[in-house]
Amino acid sequence: MTKKKAPSQPARKAGTRRRTTSVARPVSEVGPGFPLGKTGKIHPPLGLGLWALGRWRPEDEARTKATLGHALERGIRWFDTAEVYGAGRSERILGDVFYRAGPAAAEALIVTKLSWEHLRPVQVRPALLGSLQRLGRSKVDLYLVHSPDPRVPIAETMSALEALWKEGKIGAIGVSNFSAAQLVEARAALRETDVVVNQVLYNLFERADGDEVLPYCRQEGILIEAYTPLARGLLAGRYLSGSIPVGPARSTGLREQLPEMQARARRLHTLAEEAGVPMASLALHWLSERGIAPLFGASQPAQVDEVLAAWAARPTAAVLARADAIALGHDG
Ligand SMILES: NC(=O)c1ccc[n+]([C@@H]2O[C@H](COP(=O)([O-])OP(=O)(O)OC[C@H]3O[C@@H](n4cnc5c(N)ncnc54)[C@H](OP(=O)(O)O)[C@@H]3O)[C@@H](O)[C@H]2O)c1
Repeated sequence: MTKKKAPSQPARKAGTRRRTTSVARPVSEVGPGFPLGKTGKIHPPLGLGLWALGRWRPEDEARTKATLGHALERGIRWFDTAEVYGAGRSERILGDVFYRAGPAAAEALIVTKLSWEHLRPVQVRPALLGSLQRLGRSKVDLYLVHSPDPRVPIAETMSALEALWKEGKIGAIGVSNFSAAQLVEARAALRETDVVVNQVLYNLFERADGDEVLPYCRQEGILIEAYTPLARGLLAGRYLSGSIPVGPARSTGLREQLPEMQARARRLHTLAEEAGVPMASLALHWLSERGIAPLFGASQPAQVDEVLAAWAARPTAAVLARADAIALGHDG
């Protein structure tokens, strides 16, 4: 088997909606996706991440499950978790919800991640098996290296992952928080398959990681998944003034530049109002227009609805160009 580039263009024309009355495939509101390497699966263009979802207190579990179930009902088909999220609780909650969800769950893309603490070859298999057990699956659709660890050669981890891919326990291999140079190193270690995804921090305000890998990923057909696309709510119209509450889910790198970023966010809010779109649609479509797949977070069902409404409202190219300038501080 030879390596082949995964196309980075949407499988169907952007903007067209999937409409079907089938029970097994309820109305999807997220539209066309991207081919996932050579797996034959489609990677949806918008996904829900399960990091901040639970806050991991027992009393949050019902709300977490309701949010997840609601996302499935509304047509979200890409769910991202990791063995480190809530020390396995996130994977277990996803497994519980999907066990009860029926056919909609069967067609979803499940992504989980190998912890940066488990990158040594001897650790890789037990880590994956633990994730599969919590998820209640025999195979994960897409398995990402959560983050590189300079103490472990990337090639060693990738070879261990490729062995599991050959066994059929992993549908496709991806990475997260990798630079372009680290991507080159990771891919060089794979003989029969390839890296299909790099998940990085990328939003209108926090661009450095995404900008660094975008040219290489585009050239090589590696899909970029953008985490924290809403800057933890700042780009959805929250925290336009005042402080951002402290807590694990709120630890954004923007805290130190907050007054300036809030001023820019207020200008983005005004732009969105003038354009007649939700503010979050600027953030989401600034990414999607670049062929990047946003991975948002939500801690309650209403936020899923708000994000889907923002996704459905597509700003014009001129509005997105203005949002780009405002976010860079080049405007106003
Ligand atoms: N690979 C990595 O290293 C890495 C790192 C970080 C994240 N991720 C993944 O990316 C996912 C998304 O990251 P993120 O949670 O930082 O993304 P985000 O979409 O930027 O932020 C999500 C938060 O924004 C708030 N929010 C959502 N919808 C809103 C709305 N309509 N109006 C106002 N506020 C809204 C919620 O805050 P409240 O919950 O406070 O209401 C929500 O938890 C994670 O769940 C995880 O799966 C990966």
